[in-house]
Amino acid sequence: MLAMIVLVSGRGSNLMSIQAAIEKGALDGRINAVISNKREAAALAFAKEKGLPAVWMNPKEEDGRMGYENRLFSEIEKIGSDCLVLAGYSFLLNWDVFRHYGKPILNIHPALLPAFPGMTAQRDALAYGVKYSGCTVHFVDGGMDSGPIIAQKPVPVMDLDDEERLSARILAEEHKLYPEVLTWLARGRIRRDGRIVRVLPDDAEEGGGRG
Ligand code: GRF
Repeated sequence: MLAMIVLVSGRGSNLMSIQAAIEKGALDGRINAVISNKREAAALAFAKEKGLPAVWMNPKEEDGRMGYENRLFSEIEKIGSDCLVLAGYSFLLNWDVFRHYGKPILNIHPALLPAFPGMTAQRDALAYGVKYSGCTVHFVDGGMDSGPIIAQKPVPVMDLDDEERLSARILAEEHKLYPEVLTWLARGRIRRDGRIVRVLPDDAEEGGGRG
């Protein structure tokens, strides 16, 4: 069973899709904690509703940004998990701290990386005039949405799209892709070789082990 800690900052719809996949038995996992840097995040309220440990970590305490990163890291280590799942988490993890985690850290991004990294991906895709955007699940490294790509799902951009419409169609795909990738991780099917990530076929899983 894949033990996850989910980092969030807002609405939490990806968290909900992961929890739904666990509840319907599609994902052999459990969420050990949901941690937010924003107290008012709807994702935290959802976690509480579901009886999941919900933790607010205040970035504005006196110890500054580095202090926050260190506190966050200690909390994550204390709780324990097989992986970290970033789901709409608004901070870039400080790599000086998080490189020591040693287990997979995943993120989902609403564009086909490496195009349109950053916080305004759907708006940037529309402004550029691409005909396809989509979503990407990738490993986190020290950069902004720059880690090795695990999976992508293209979404066509329609002539009448505005940011809201395109975002909604991409989000619907995010809700399928993220739980699916996590099932691959849970079944030990993901192999990483530098930047190249391969997903082993389902039947190559004989040993059952992860990693
Ligand atoms: C999603 O679009 C995700 O790709 C991006 O942030 C958004 C989070 O949405 N990283 P939600 O909080 O999961 O609803």
